[in-house]
This record gives sequence, C-alpha cells and structure tokens, in this order.
Amino acid sequence: MSTTRHIRFWDRIAARYAARPIKDQSAYEAMLADAASRLRPTDRVLEIGCGTGSTAIRLAPHVADWTATDFSAEMLRIAKAKPAPANLHFVQADAISAFDGGPFDVICAFQVLHLVDDLNGTLARIHANLKPGGLMIGKTWCFADMGLKLRGLFLVLRSIGMFPPANRLTRADLRLAILNAGFEIVEEHVFGENPHGPYIVARRPGSRAA
Ligand SMILES: C[S@@+](CC[C@H](N)C(=O)[O-])C[C@H]1O[C@@H](n2cnc3c(N)ncnc32)[C@H](O)[C@@H]1O
Repeated sequence: MSTTRHIRFWDRIAARYAARPIKDQSAYEAMLADAASRLRPTDRVLEIGCGTGSTAIRLAPHVADWTATDFSAEMLRIAKAKPAPANLHFVQADAISAFDGGPFDVICAFQVLHLVDDLNGTLARIHANLKPGGLMIGKTWCFADMGLKLRGLFLVLRSIGMFPPANRLTRADLRLAILNAGFEIVEEHVFGENPHGPYIVARRPGSRAA
C-alpha cells in the first residue's frame, strides 16, 4: 500500500478512532504513569504517530517541550481542537520526516511501529535522533503472536477497509529489531490483559546529560 493510501485510511477513520473509548482505562493509566516516571522536566520529546493527541496531552506537562507528529491531517485536526498544554506542538510529518529539530531526549511511538513500511529504517532513524542515553518509549502490536481467530478477524477487517495494513511481527522479532538498531531494552511490560501489545522502553547507550 502506498503512503498516500495509508494516510487516506487514517484520515477516513480519524473521527471514529477519536470517538472510540479506551478499552482498558486502568492499563492505559498505568502505562502513562510508567512513561511519566521516565521523563524529566528538561526533556525535549518527539512523538511519532501521535493520532488524536490524547497521550501527548497527558505527558507533555512532565517535560520542557513535546512535538507530536502524525502523517494524517485529519487525526491532527482532531488533536489540535483539544485543550492542550502550551509546550505541546502538533506537526504533520511521517515517520521519515518527523525528526527535524533532533536530537531529542525521548522519542515516543505508541501503537505505530507495527504500521510503518520500514521498521528497521524507522528504528535506525529513532536511534540516530536520540541523544546518548536517550529513551524510546512505545507500545507495539505483535500480530504474528495472535491466535488464528484474531488474525482472521483482522484480515477480514482489512479486506473491507476497516483495518490498516500492519507488519506481522512477533514479540521476539520486535525485540530483535530494537536490539539490532543499537538500543538496550530497559523495560518490557504488558499493561492489561492483552499480551500482544508490549510496552517497551529502550535506551540509546551513553549517559544522559544532567
Ligand atoms: C493506532 S493509531 C495510534 C495513535 C496514538 N499514538 C495512540 O496511541 O492512540 C496510529 C497512528 O499512527 C499514524 N501513522 C501510521 N503510520 C504512520 C507513519 N508512517 N508516519 C506517521 N504517522 C503514521 C496514523 O495516522 C495514526 O494516527
């Protein structure tokens, strides 16, 4: 699928995505609390695939500056309509062009790495645009680990345009790709019941400036 068709998919479903309630609010809150505990008031943060900005709005108050990017104009239109902290900026950019203004202290990628065309290239760009000791924080869906029934359901949804094309990753593939990009994994955790969307915090080796 071309990038233009990917963008059209997200533009088309943006309003529905925004209206969808979070499935497991306490798991989401626990994930936010963990991410917030790793942020520092001086940090400059980049987020890729920010969607409608909910996570950025919650986490930006913990840092100096948060740039939230997404390639979908419609997702960003919904994000920008929400009340947001003054240090949060929404920018339209894909996972290739999002890195202007780097290096960053932290790069976040929540529910997006399974969607990018080139996972290894994206991880390499994230690594290259982090300061030494900087953190990548994200949650990624590992579809290849899901049972047949669930994978079948996603195939049907994709065939009727209700689900985007996604990388068929196992959790082991994801970990390996992160390690091969030069990161150390410092935390890996499943918040909530579904084991197939691990939250991973990875660190670019080196020491973080005080
Ligand atoms: C599943 S949503 C996740 C949104 C948000 N991070 C969250 O956790 O709710 C995926 C988002 O990533 C964006 N996206 C997908 N592929 C992208 C890419 N290659 N570059 C930039 N954004 C992308 C989509 O537009 C969509 O807003």
